[in-house]
Amino acid sequence: MNDVTRQEKHPDFIVVSEDPFNGSAPMAFLVQEFVTPNDTFFARNHGTIPDVDIDTFRLTVEGMVKQPISLSFSELIGRFPKTEVMTTLQCAGNRRQELMTVAPIPNELPWGGGAISNATWAGIRLRDVLIAAGVDRKARHTAFTGLDQVQRLGQTFGFGGSIPLDKALLPETILAYEMNGEPLSNLHGYPLRVIVPGYIGARSVKWVTNITIQMQPSQNYFQQRAYKLFPPEVGPDNVKWEDGIMLGENSLNAVICFPADDEGVPLGQFSVMGYALGDGHHLVERVEVSSDDGKTWSQASFLTENNDLWAWKLWEAQVEITPLTTTIIARATDTAGNSQPQDTQEIWNFKGYANNAWHKVNVTVT
Ligand code: MTE
Repeated sequence: MNDVTRQEKHPDFIVVSEDPFNGSAPMAFLVQEFVTPNDTFFARNHGTIPDVDIDTFRLTVEGMVKQPISLSFSELIGRFPKTEVMTTLQCAGNRRQELMTVAPIPNELPWGGGAISNATWAGIRLRDVLIAAGVDRKARHTAFTGLDQVQRLGQTFGFGGSIPLDKALLPETILAYEMNGEPLSNLHGYPLRVIVPGYIGARSVKWVTNITIQMQPSQNYFQQRAYKLFPPEVGPDNVKWEDGIMLGENSLNAVICFPADDEGVPLGQFSVMGYALGDGHHLVERVEVSSDDGKTWSQASFLTENNDLWAWKLWEAQVEITPLTTTIIARATDTAGNSQPQDTQEIWNFKGYANNAWHKVNVTVT
């Protein structure tokens, strides 16, 4: 981490690891603003934070295209119209800490529920660039590579990943150069990053410099090894990497931000706050909260009217705290009736991804 990186964040920003730089805001901050300010937006990096020279930067598009292209930043923004999308970015490792209490998950970051934030992103549509390159519609995948340097398995390479070509051609998938009306900072991908609404954060590749259209998913470590889901019985000793599910779309999730885990709460009516995120196809329809270990549930109200498919919903619920209350639990249901798994045990996986079990905080009655 350099000082500039730390300084762009709020003084209360919690640094989970210095190098690579990873961190998030305290949980109570998350529900204060529907659009997360840039200085509290979570940061997730696997390697260096490049300081890209805008004059030499180029984006190349190659692979299954009629006309490979290589464009400077000013050519890109001059040639393609500006567009905007609001989306929440959630790291697949969000809520890993709870999975770590089921069984150890070594060498991974112990994220609480803070590896998630919501922003308005502006940039150009990826589809416009792909069509300009004459994309071959028979291709299946769109692979991205960033300019950072990551070390894994004794090699140094740029972080990468891919999404299905169908998703790349949808208008919401963009190459962003602004975050909440400001140019991207180095930390968040200056000058250009992919934004894939509804997908795990890992597919929104920062400092993107190469796009390759191909039949197979990206061969990058972060597509082939990391960000893959395995059943609970698979561990580092018996893993067959090719058997894992490459994570793509988000799953329905709801998290309590206030009170925090292990916080004291007073007897009587108490207001619980949190966020809920849909799967990118269905809106979150209902959030329920229980203060009696799931015997009874109170329905939360949403704090914003917003119905953007890819944005979170912030919510508030009134519950009764009694002398017997030891936990507060939240769960969500979407417009298709999908709900969340009840227990972390069912979904534990050795890399600690995609935890969307009912969220439970322990509380002490004061
Ligand atoms: N892109 C590059 N080049 N390098 C990275 O380490 N991390 C990914 C993604 N894009 C990453 C990247 C992950 S895992 C997440 S969750 C998001 O960026 C986080 O974006 P943010 O740091 O802007 O919050």
